[in-house]
Amino acid sequence: MRKTLIVGNWKMNLERLGARSLVSAIRSKLDPQSARLKEQREIAVAPPFVLLYAVSQELAGSDILLAAQNMHFEDSGAYTGEVSPPMLKPFGVRYVILGHSERRQFFKETDDLINKKVKAALRHRINPILCVGETADQRKEGRTLDVVMAQLEGGLEGIEASQLSSLTIAYEPVWAIGTGVNATPEQAQEVHGIIRNRLQARFGTELAQGARILYGGSVTPENAASLLAMPDIDGALVGGASLKADSFAAIVMAGLG
Ligand code: PGA
Repeated sequence: MRKTLIVGNWKMNLERLGARSLVSAIRSKLDPQSARLKEQREIAVAPPFVLLYAVSQELAGSDILLAAQNMHFEDSGAYTGEVSPPMLKPFGVRYVILGHSERRQFFKETDDLINKKVKAALRHRINPILCVGETADQRKEGRTLDVVMAQLEGGLEGIEASQLSSLTIAYEPVWAIGTGVNATPEQAQEVHGIIRNRLQARFGTELAQGARILYGGSVTPENAASLLAMPDIDGALVGGASLKADSFAAIVMAGLG
């Protein structure tokens, strides 16, 4: 009942021509499969802001959706260098990645700020993908669940039950991002199950069962099927492997029935 969502997070990579040829290569691999994919997969790519227009053109007529990697929570104002939700909407942006660990680490984003962005996205009908995850040290100290739950609660503060269906959670252990060391399916499932229990306690069983929880962190064509086979892993947020058409398409197709 939860459709698997695969999102390619390009981070700060590619320029216009490279982006266009990547999308065109992804389409040539996935378009012939589109009837089969339609039922079982939702697919999105998240290019840097300045590539949204070029990528939206290249995606015309395909089922692949557009996502942004971040945004500001205000509609407009004196925020030099920032991009607002109403600026993203005209490009057809359907998802926005919020609270990625790189934003938390390098740009000092706090749960409070991320919560404002989540609310702004929902207000503008852009579906937030709220990222949570512990560092290697936090895991070693046995604090994984405390950290993840605090980020979850902080990010979802004031969110109403009726909004949960527009929201996606992404569990991305920081130690797995870009390292080639993915969480094992069992490690990821443990955290995903606990996230879902927490959603259930707050929003009720039905809504929690409908909520998608993605895994991110060194997802590859080799490990995708076993991760996606876990009961509470509803998709993947893919960084490095989303920059190559072959590997991204293989992850999209992994474990397809
Ligand atoms: P990775 O990145 O797939 O390169 O580990 C995932 C992410 O940061 O979303």
